[in-house]
Amino acid sequence: MTARAATMLICDMCGTLVSARDAKTQCAKCGGLFSLRYDAPTERGPALKKIFDARLAARADMPESSGVWRFRELVLPDVSDGEIVTQPEGNTPLVSRDRISAWCGVESIHMKLEGANPTGSFKDRGMTVAVTQARRLAAPAVACASTGNTSASLAAYAALAGLPALVLVPNGQVSLGKLAQTIAYGARTLLVRGDFDDCLRLARAAADKLGVYLANSINPYRISGQKTIVLEMLQQLGWRAPDWIVFPAGNLGNTSAFGAALREAKELGLIDRTPRLAAVQASGAAPFAASFRDDFRERHTVRAETVATAIRIGDPASYDRAVRAIRETNGVVIDLPDAEILDAKAVVDASGVGCEPASAASVAGVRTLAARGVIQRTDTVVAVLTGHILKDPGILLQYHRDTDPPPPFANRPIEIDADLAAVERVLAAVRRSDG
Ligand SMILES: Cc1ncc(COP(=O)(O)O)c(C=O)c1O
Ligand SMILES: [Zn+2]
Repeated sequence: MTARAATMLICDMCGTLVSARDAKTQCAKCGGLFSLRYDAPTERGPALKKIFDARLAARADMPESSGVWRFRELVLPDVSDGEIVTQPEGNTPLVSRDRISAWCGVESIHMKLEGANPTGSFKDRGMTVAVTQARRLAAPAVACASTGNTSASLAAYAALAGLPALVLVPNGQVSLGKLAQTIAYGARTLLVRGDFDDCLRLARAAADKLGVYLANSINPYRISGQKTIVLEMLQQLGWRAPDWIVFPAGNLGNTSAFGAALREAKELGLIDRTPRLAAVQASGAAPFAASFRDDFRERHTVRAETVATAIRIGDPASYDRAVRAIRETNGVVIDLPDAEILDAKAVVDASGVGCEPASAASVAGVRTLAARGVIQRTDTVVAVLTGHILKDPGILLQYHRDTDPPPPFANRPIEIDADLAAVERVLAAVRRSDG
């Protein structure tokens, strides 16, 4: 292998180059966010695919056994094996279920189950890279603002790396599963009296003024790791690009990462055409969808409100690069009411797959885009299910057990006396409704 130049940071807005030893996430000249700049691999097309495919057989103790580090040339090329902090992560299934396809009105929808990551969400893919970098920089501590999944992931990776972690979450707005994980993995958990956008402002100030290493998705290493959601799904599809990739959008880290991954995959000859991105927001937290409707003439912000707490974000930080991703992929941005997201979730859950509320926005989005004729019935569609069903048990019980009248897919638990006749009555009713 030829010697590589060291990875640098490049400002997305003005192109300024900064040393990767710099822990800043914002350009001092123009305020833009950084991306990683590294030498492209010397291999292209089939030769590069062959390298990635051969690593599917990597031994469990090798970093390449991770679904992130398998693509290390496109994630962080100049890192050595011993520096990598990995669980490992990634290697998440790509599945389809007839009843979900039928409900969406398309012939085949694949679902990328990111809830199968070690802490139950896609965040682990970015966190393995960000925490690797934090340790390389000998950061005194790592920190993040979070709607819950980032904090759970950072807490786990910081524990693995032996680094202290500080997380800022909006008090009372984080789901039970995520809060419990964050505390249990050992992060110092600050319950901020404010919303996510307040938490992020505070975390950025703490990084600037107090020298902690910021692990939010404005961190370019996070974005680099999250590109592998797309790279891995392309590999699972035999490097045949789908027509659509549909996913929930909040702070717009994934939108940016997916755009970057597709740009690189096309440039390197891993795919011969670019899938269209469809970013789906909840209607109560849809500033990006509002900007899309304006043809991105204006950057909107809102006071966010939705049951899908992971995407309850009103001032998305990665706005500019997300705009680029949507433009370059001829993408779309839509928003959907909470009720539709929860119905989609109930359908996904009842198929035995399961996901958290925000994740179901992707499946709800496919249904809506198919009904509007934007997605064609025969299109190949991948919906990214970003988080695990157990992340938010509260919302499940509220939907199935506690909502009156019961929503369309409610599965009410039934309280009975401890006698066989009661069981028999329920069984007879189940048989009647199945027949
Ligand atoms: C489960 C889940 N889905 C989607 C998102 C939104 O992703 P992004 O902030 O990259 O737009 C998040 C972010 O917290 C999340 O936790
Ligand atoms: Zn700049």
